[in-house]
Amino acid sequence: MSSPSSNQEIGLEDQLLQKSVDGTFSIPWTHRVRFTHDAFSEGNDVLMAVVPEDMEQVRLCTVIDEGLLEARSDLIESLNQWQQRHSPRVQFTGPPVIIPGGESTKNGWSSFETVAAAINDQHVCRRSLVLIIGGGAVLDAAGFAASTSHRGIDVIRMPSTTLSQGDAGIGIKNGINAFGVKNFLGNFSPPLAVINDLSLLESLDEAHWRGGLSEAVKVALLKHPPLLDYIEQSSGRLRSRDLSAMETVMLASARLHMDHIVNGGDPFENQHARPLDLGHWAAHRIEAISQWSVPHGDAVAMGLAIDLEYTVRINRLDRTLVDRVVGCLRSLGFLGSCDYLNDGMAVLKGMEEFREHLGGRLTIPTITAAGTILELHEIDSSIMLEAIASVNELLSVES
Ligand SMILES: NC(=O)c1ccc[n+]([C@@H]2O[C@H](COP(=O)([O-])OP(=O)(O)OC[C@H]3O[C@@H](n4cnc5c(N)ncnc54)[C@H](O)[C@@H]3O)[C@@H](O)[C@H]2O)c1
Ligand SMILES: [Zn+2]
Repeated sequence: MSSPSSNQEIGLEDQLLQKSVDGTFSIPWTHRVRFTHDAFSEGNDVLMAVVPEDMEQVRLCTVIDEGLLEARSDLIESLNQWQQRHSPRVQFTGPPVIIPGGESTKNGWSSFETVAAAINDQHVCRRSLVLIIGGGAVLDAAGFAASTSHRGIDVIRMPSTTLSQGDAGIGIKNGINAFGVKNFLGNFSPPLAVINDLSLLESLDEAHWRGGLSEAVKVALLKHPPLLDYIEQSSGRLRSRDLSAMETVMLASARLHMDHIVNGGDPFENQHARPLDLGHWAAHRIEAISQWSVPHGDAVAMGLAIDLEYTVRINRLDRTLVDRVVGCLRSLGFLGSCDYLNDGMAVLKGMEEFREHLGGRLTIPTITAAGTILELHEIDSSIMLEAIASVNELLSVES
């Protein structure tokens, strides 16, 4: 057997032929969130300002939430007028792609396929943009399709619910439900920008108007207790649909969520802990048990009450804070009558699903005081069942 030629003989440098090579790269990214009113109106340049300056021709594919469109029949006309004002630089790749709103859009492949097929039919390339306008579910499903078509097309998100403006839309995750498990399929893909147009919130129904407020209470409890004070003081205005009070909560909630993504050190959630997921193991399970008839925001309110009640029962939290949070949630319209906590064991199953979804060690975030996070790695099932039963009893009492 002949001996291998020396590198000198074959004329290649040693460095090129190393058998173990590590290369490190990082990509700087600016997560951009903008708040505005009437984004498509004359004189409002918020949308154009986030389009890359060097993009001479802006080819835009729009995806719109059908429920939003039903409530805002003027939306397409405003969008068309906006495009005409920015023509010829801005061109639509085709008619708006309309997909159903709400959780059903994430159940199965139908909406994903509609968006991916339109991206194909409208020749949307990697130098084009996809503008998604809708609730968290539409953002999740259409964002998943856009971020996987051609291995990723840049997306501008325009969330249209309080939950998506203050929380879901700010995130960098996309996904759909599969095998009966929420968000089983999905990815992390930061959008080019998030534009929160507060005027879109005016047409929301009551449940989705309040939806983002339970997430705001959650993030206030974890990260910024003064926001809880503001929400409590403004609960009457918030419940009676005062847009300016809602704007304050949205600004603060979005900022706290964004700070967590940008400065929390784990934007792609590689670690076990998801500190912002207070109340979420139960919330996701309640949504599934109800076949997604309980909206995410309402489920989060129940999940918060359950986790805080548990923390009191293991002597790590003072009951006065739980009473305060429950009172605040009820004054916002949450924690009304609901049958889905009757079977405590069925709810408890959500804990194992949560662990599986995150992988590895069970980590349930809770608090020992407003602003002080505690991660629980072991849960006493019998105490948790008591906590669920106690919240269930609360739901049966008229607020
Ligand atoms: N990606 C993430 O990081 C993340 C985080 C939290 C939640 N989520 C997801 O967000 C989803 C919930 O989103 P949501 O609370 O925004 O509700 P949603 O998307 O389910 O929409 C609720 C309903 O409101 C309608 N709608 C939307 N905007 C409207 C408007 N302005 N006027 C009138 N009707 C309107 C929709 O058609 C739908 O019927 C869940 O699937 C949840 O899992 C995602
Ligand atoms: Zn949530």
